[in-house]
Amino acid sequence: MPERFYVTTPIYYVNDRPHIGHVYTTTVADIVARYERLRGKEVFFLTGTDEHAAKVVDSAEAHDMTAQEWADRNAAQFQKAFEDLGMSHDDFIRTTEDRHKTRVLRYVQAMMESGDVYLGEYEGWYDAGQEEYLPENKAREFEFKSPINGKPLVKKSEKNYFFRLSGYSDGLLAHLDEHPDFLIPPARKNELIGRIEEGLNDVPISRTGADGWGIPMPGDETHTIYVWIDALFNYLTTVDTDDRRAFWPCTMHLLAKDILWFHAAIWPAMLMALGKCPGYEWVGLPGQVCAHSFWIAEGRKMSKSLGNFVDMERIQDYVERFGVDALRYFLAGYGPVGASDRDFAEARFIEAYNKELANVVGNGVNRVATMVGKYCDGTLPEPGDPVPEAEDLRTSVHAAYDRYVPAMDSVRLDQAVEAAVDVFRAMDVFIDRTQPFKRAKDPAEAGTVRTILRECTEAIRIGSTLLSPIMPERMGEVWRRYGFAEPAPGVDSMAAARAWSQVAGGTSVEKGDPLFARYQPPA
Ligand code: MSP
Repeated sequence: MPERFYVTTPIYYVNDRPHIGHVYTTTVADIVARYERLRGKEVFFLTGTDEHAAKVVDSAEAHDMTAQEWADRNAAQFQKAFEDLGMSHDDFIRTTEDRHKTRVLRYVQAMMESGDVYLGEYEGWYDAGQEEYLPENKAREFEFKSPINGKPLVKKSEKNYFFRLSGYSDGLLAHLDEHPDFLIPPARKNELIGRIEEGLNDVPISRTGADGWGIPMPGDETHTIYVWIDALFNYLTTVDTDDRRAFWPCTMHLLAKDILWFHAAIWPAMLMALGKCPGYEWVGLPGQVCAHSFWIAEGRKMSKSLGNFVDMERIQDYVERFGVDALRYFLAGYGPVGASDRDFAEARFIEAYNKELANVVGNGVNRVATMVGKYCDGTLPEPGDPVPEAEDLRTSVHAAYDRYVPAMDSVRLDQAVEAAVDVFRAMDVFIDRTQPFKRAKDPAEAGTVRTILRECTEAIRIGSTLLSPIMPERMGEVWRRYGFAEPAPGVDSMAAARAWSQVAGGTSVEKGDPLFARYQPPA
């Protein structure tokens, strides 16, 4: 039985149009999914949309549509964006689907019966302009005035259903202690632990006056399940079917730091609560929560007021100029996968593209194919006389491979990309040292030229395998041109790729167009 790997992205609010932030997390998940498939695992990759926010009703009204019509229209934009970009998700969940709603109802019902969800009274400082409550410390910080419009806050109470989060602080702390890799990057752990140690309050999980938009509380139509509770359950509802249940517990939730608390505290606590209910003993905790940082754009925070979102139009423009794989390369290699934010700046993109993809990876692939064409009639030769420098090439390629695998395993995509490109850098050094183009002029060197080209081809095979989760289309093209075997499903092709001397002689190699044509900005 192959090992299972279940990876998720957040489900995105349908009120916003897709932008680079959403594309980023989904691309990271897609890279992880493709990598794990290469490792021979049975992967389930989920993304989708979060549709029951109150804002959806307002925007729909403003556009003279029903909430459902508005949600349908916007969810379709996310689906199209991810399809156009070639994402390999196995399902796309929408929280307005029946398959989701019916299961959420069952989960909440079970937690009501077990006592972890109860009807209580919420008291807080209400900001009428924002229609939201501020916690005591926030209200005090703003001198009991609205941080938005400065009007006095009103002490108000309402009846709500609550989730007994307060009962789970010890459970959460113990889990974090026993699973040191539960939250990555590790830099975020202390803050999470500190906040749990401060003490957890029960959280309201229902609201009133939702005009029928949302999932009603079981047995109480006057309350609607709070959108966040509804949304978090998507990870479970989608696989809570007979043929998918084995994918639970989820292996990895990907998201950004903005929604870390929901995923690393509230969600695991909800799962602990549900797992205690009869019939839900199988509901364990996710393996890992991976919370990346944020993209900013050309040095400035992306915001509605600045109107500087890298939106689908801009993304499409990059794809047209550089190709979708180059975009994926930039997102992976230069993105905020670690603890600090990163700048989506055109100059950084072009520099990475030209210096790494055009000059190193593409040039290496084309250069070797050209030499095979010129010196070996386009057919991969059998190895010839020994070339001592080959030992250094093998050592460098294996060292790069050995850095790549742990980097991928911990979603350090920037380090993984660096390691993969190092394979091609090592090949460049090898070619410069051995000078096959000079040797080719001397018939006595025909044997060493053959060996050099064979060694280079091995490096290209390994390097393209490492880069393939990141650039599946372009690396597939390399495999086609060189006649390398496509990785088979259910086999750990990544592990198998490390061994040297796998390419067979006698296959024809096609030169083809530049794999990544150098980009010249228009004058
Ligand atoms: N609907 C909730 C999530 C519910 S999950 C059970 C939500 N949606 S969202 O549309 O606001 O998406 C937030 C997520 O989008 C972030 O956690 C991150 O994955 C991605 N990003 C949004 N803006 C981003 C950047 N500027 N940079 C990187 N990723 C960002 O929150």
